[in-house]
Amino acid sequence: MKKILAFAMATAMALSIAACTGAGSTPPASSNPPASSNPPAASGNQGGSSADASTPAFTTVEPGKLHMSTNAEFPPYEMLDDSGSPVGIDVEVAAAIADKLGLELVVNDMGFDAALLAVQNGQSDIAMAGITVSEDRLAKMDFTDSYATGVQVVIVKEGSDVTMDNLGEKMIGTQMGTTGYIYASDTPDNGGYGEDHVIGYETGAVAVQALVSGQVDAVIIDNLPAQSYVEANAAAGLTILEGTWVEEDYAIALQKGNTELMAAVNGALNELKADGTFQSIVDKYITAD
Ligand code: ARG
Repeated sequence: MKKILAFAMATAMALSIAACTGAGSTPPASSNPPASSNPPAASGNQGGSSADASTPAFTTVEPGKLHMSTNAEFPPYEMLDDSGSPVGIDVEVAAAIADKLGLELVVNDMGFDAALLAVQNGQSDIAMAGITVSEDRLAKMDFTDSYATGVQVVIVKEGSDVTMDNLGEKMIGTQMGTTGYIYASDTPDNGGYGEDHVIGYETGAVAVQALVSGQVDAVIIDNLPAQSYVEANAAAGLTILEGTWVEEDYAIALQKGNTELMAAVNGALNELKADGTFQSIVDKYITAD
């Protein structure tokens, strides 16, 4: 319960930050890139070819491009298609945002931690990877308005004796660096189970393989990837425990202090929500059940 409140607070903070960087900030007078004390790593280009003339100028890592770092191991938000290209909700939403900003999307697939670091270091313009807004992350990066809700759930083998209440006595698999890992490995007085009970794997899929092979008793992961992994491993007889472990908000991460790009990305995201494009992308990947 404590944790859920913390997330609600984190979200409120994210929204208020987003609000400040949006309508509240004064757009620069000229269309030249504003002199910033904290510019992105590479020498930027001016942006803002959007139809909306009030869109402030922004800079990106590479002129004319919007670099997105992600970890394409998180269906249906991001995964590789048969030809090895990243696809999914985040990838398509990012492409639509880039389009609105007159930029070409470049998707850089890497480890989850690396995807978060790339945006903090200004090596990518945005990180989009089903990223949960948390207080710790808000200290290191900025977030747009939230675009989805994630729920951490628990996958177990069918017929196992693992319940929501005895997780603390079991071995839990997670994806390294995710909130599933961070919160499950926290101390029991903070609602976790302690590091000794949690193994962080490179990807969620590998964590699920560890469950299938009996290395761990449960996997804590976001609900939509969980459903996808349970389906993909139908022969192994996996199931998701009743109940939600924790609820979270997903948002797009940007380098701290990049207020011009934040305003542009947030503006584009909200336009996509308002005109139905966002929902139509989600509907392609998530069928009502
Ligand atoms: N929502 C979780 C987090 O932010 C998991 C995200 C994992 N995403 C991925 N593309 N692997 O920590």
